[in-house]
Amino acid sequence: MSIQNELQATMQALVQKGKGILAADESGPTIAKRFKTIGVESTEENRRTWRSLMLTAPGLGEFVSGVILHEETLGQSIDDGTPLPQWAAQQGIVPGIKVDAGKIPLAGATGDEITQGLDGLAERLDAYKRQGARFAKWRAVYNVSDTLPSPLAVKANAEALARYAAICQERGIVPIVEPEVLIDGDHTLARCAEVTEAVLHAVFHALHRHRVVLEHMLLKPSMVVPGKTHVLQATPAEVAAQTIRILRRTVPAAVPSVNFLSGGQTPEEATANLDAMNRLGPQPWQLSFSYGRALQEPALQAWKGQAAHARNSQDALLERARLNSAACQGQYTAAMEAADPASRLA
Ligand code: 13P
Repeated sequence: MSIQNELQATMQALVQKGKGILAADESGPTIAKRFKTIGVESTEENRRTWRSLMLTAPGLGEFVSGVILHEETLGQSIDDGTPLPQWAAQQGIVPGIKVDAGKIPLAGATGDEITQGLDGLAERLDAYKRQGARFAKWRAVYNVSDTLPSPLAVKANAEALARYAAICQERGIVPIVEPEVLIDGDHTLARCAEVTEAVLHAVFHALHRHRVVLEHMLLKPSMVVPGKTHVLQATPAEVAAQTIRILRRTVPAAVPSVNFLSGGQTPEEATANLDAMNRLGPQPWQLSFSYGRALQEPALQAWKGQAAHARNSQDALLERARLNSAACQGQYTAAMEAADPASRLA
């Protein structure tokens, strides 16, 4: 298969009505933080158990078309010995891989950060592909204040995202381009909108310069929301209106799908906000999810590291996936939350 056909086939498998992506690619320190909340030690075996539990949830493929894995998981197997990426593929869930090497302070720009991991990326992608990965993810983060992010951080991260995306496409791997405007802080909804617009504009300008084929990539942005500690929080209708306004100004119609991150929103908020956007009527792109915490949190709390809770935990994951699938189609209502098995457990 030619590289172009390969990318097209992966896009078709990923972009499906009513389906989104499960982000299960937490770094070592992040998964340790998540496990700590349920009193579970972050060992290689516990990480394998947890990620196997999620991926063996019966029928997950009905709502989820792709999973983003950590490099470690790519080499792990479920209990019967089937490698996790192969298992996912058998469920109709395309395996992907987080390929950035995390963020560091951006030299010369106090308070800003830059994502690293470009050196040797092409060779790493070839190896990940042999293990079954068909798409990749790279996350850039932008801290928000009255002065942050600096124009330098906006430009440097856009450049890195575009170089990553171009390298991925050259290797036949679909890139997920993830610019995350952080929710931390007390900034207003309007300030988040302003920063998101500048960030997305720079990202698409860089993608164009680097000759990235927009039809063969996914955008994974943050929604336009006020800072977590801002006194005025926003309704789903406000988040939807502002997010769509900014996306329409900055994201070319050639991009097939926008799969949001949840970024610290509660599971219910992330679902309601996605639903509100899809209720605004057809957009040039599909609007879906690529949630980590907003999909995993209730399932993690139900599991608590106990094999006896595995089935309840899987039910909680399936329930969130089902609700987000409804939100992809503008068919979610808050009343559907009452049937959430995780809340029944609480
Ligand atoms: P959250 O949905 O928890 O923000 O995770 C998505 C992700 O992949 C962050 O890089």
